Amino acid sequence: MAKLWGGRFEKEDMIPFVMKFTSSIEVDKILAYYDCLSTKVHVEMLHKTGLITEKEKKEFLPILEQLLQKIEKGTFNPEAFEDIHSAVQDYVSSRAPELAKKLHTGRSRNEQVVNDVRLYCKDHLAMIEEAIISLQKALVVLAEKNFDVIIPGYTHLNRAQPILFSHLTLAYVEMLQRDLDRVKDAYKRTDVSVMGSGALAGAALELDRKFIADKLGFQSISANSIDAVSDRDFIVEIVSALCFIAVHLSRIAEDMILYSTPEFGFLDIGESYCTGSSLMPQKKNPDVLELIRGRSSVIIGYLNTLFVLLKALPHSYNRDLQEDKKPLFESMRIVADELAIMKDLVGTLKLKKSYVKALLEDEFIYATDIAEYLVRKGVAFKDAHDIAGSIIKKCIKKDINISDMSIAELKKISDKIDEDIFDLLNAETSVKNKKTPGSTNPAFVKKEIESWKKKLKKQPE
Ligand code: ARG
Repeated sequence: MAKLWGGRFEKEDMIPFVMKFTSSIEVDKILAYYDCLSTKVHVEMLHKTGLITEKEKKEFLPILEQLLQKIEKGTFNPEAFEDIHSAVQDYVSSRAPELAKKLHTGRSRNEQVVNDVRLYCKDHLAMIEEAIISLQKALVVLAEKNFDVIIPGYTHLNRAQPILFSHLTLAYVEMLQRDLDRVKDAYKRTDVSVMGSGALAGAALELDRKFIADKLGFQSISANSIDAVSDRDFIVEIVSALCFIAVHLSRIAEDMILYSTPEFGFLDIGESYCTGSSLMPQKKNPDVLELIRGRSSVIIGYLNTLFVLLKALPHSYNRDLQEDKKPLFESMRIVADELAIMKDLVGTLKLKKSYVKALLEDEFIYATDIAEYLVRKGVAFKDAHDIAGSIIKKCIKKDINISDMSIAELKKISDKIDEDIFDLLNAETSVKNKKTPGSTNPAFVKKEIESWKKKLKKQPE
C-alpha cells in the first residue's frame, strides 16, 4: 500500500500489526470530503502560483471531482491506509502516477489534518446550532400549550413554591441559548485556515495562503505556523461547548424522568420514547431519557481526554494529536442525535392536570406566600418567617392543612393575620402575586414566551 513517506527507510513495508496500530483511517475517513475538497483547492493554488501547469491542473481536477462524487455517494471506502490523506493521495496516484508526485507540493499532513478538522467542525457546528434552535422552538411550543398549568417547583427535591410549568420550560430555553452562544463563539476560533504552515515552519515556496482560505470559505489565515499545526484549542472549546449541551440535556432529561414517575406523576412521555420491562408488565421506562442522561458522562470523559492529551505535549506536531479525533467526532454525533431526539420527545409530552392539582393541595407550599403577606403588613421578614414556621409546626402536630385552622387559632400565633390569609392558599394567587421581573408571574412568563417566539422566528431552522 502506498505511503506518503519512505524514502529514508531501508525496509519497504511496515509490519502489518504496527501499521494497524498507527493507522487512523477507521476514525478519520469521516474527513474524506474535506480532505478531497482541500486537495482540489490546493491544486488550484499550485496552478495559480505557477507550481503546476494548466495542463497538469486540467489532469488533476477531474480525478478529484470524480473522487468528491464518490465520497458524496458513499462509495469511497478506504480501509488499508495510514490515514485519509494517504487514501486521497493514493486515489490520485493510482490514476495519474507521475502527476500525483506533485500533489503534495508545499503541504504537510500536519497542517492538512488541522484544516480538514476545521472544515468538518464548521459544518457540524452549523448543524448543532440549527438543532439547538429547533429544540428551543419545540420547548416554546410546549410552554405555550401549557401556559397556565401550575406545578410544584422543587428545591432540594422538596416541594418549594408553585411555579408555572411554562416558566420551567423557558428555563430550559435559556440554558440552550447560552449553549448556542458558546457554539457560535467556538465557531469563530475554528474559522481559520492553516494551510501554508507546512510541517511546522512554513514553506520555501510562493504559496497563496489567502487563496486557499477564501476558496474553502475560511474567515482568516493563521498567524504562526508552529501554533497552526499544534493548536487543538478549538477542538477542546467545541467539545466543552458540546459538554455543556449534553449536561443540560441530561438535567432536562432528569426532570422529565422524575416528573413522569408515579411518585410525581404529572408528566406523560410519548410511548415511542419509552420501553417496557421483560418481566414486569406494568412498567413504562423512560430509557431514551436515561440514555441522554447517561451519555453525558461519555462526553465529559472525552473533554477530559482532550485536556490530558494536550497537557505537557511539546511543540509542535506530535502523533499523539491523532487521538483528538474520536473524542471530537463522537461528541458531535452524540449531541446531534440527542438534540434531535429531545426535540421530538418534547412534542410528545403531556401534563396530567389532575395529578398536579392534587400535589398543590398540600398547603405547606404556600408558607413563603404567608411570610411575604406578613412583610407586606409591616412585619420584619425574620418574624414573618417564624410566624409562618409556627403555623406549619402546628399543622404538622395536628396532621392538618393550613386552611383547617380557624382564624382565632391563627391570630393566636400573630395578630397581624386576617381572614385574607386564606386567599393565599391557592396556586393561582401564589404565582400572580409575584412581582419581580423574571419571576413565575403569568404576565411575565407570557411576555417571555412572546419574546422567544419573535427571537426564534428570525432564526433559520
Ligand atoms: N493521522 C494524523 C493525525 O490525525 C495526521 C498525519 C500526520 N502524521 C504524521 N506522521 N506527521 O494527526
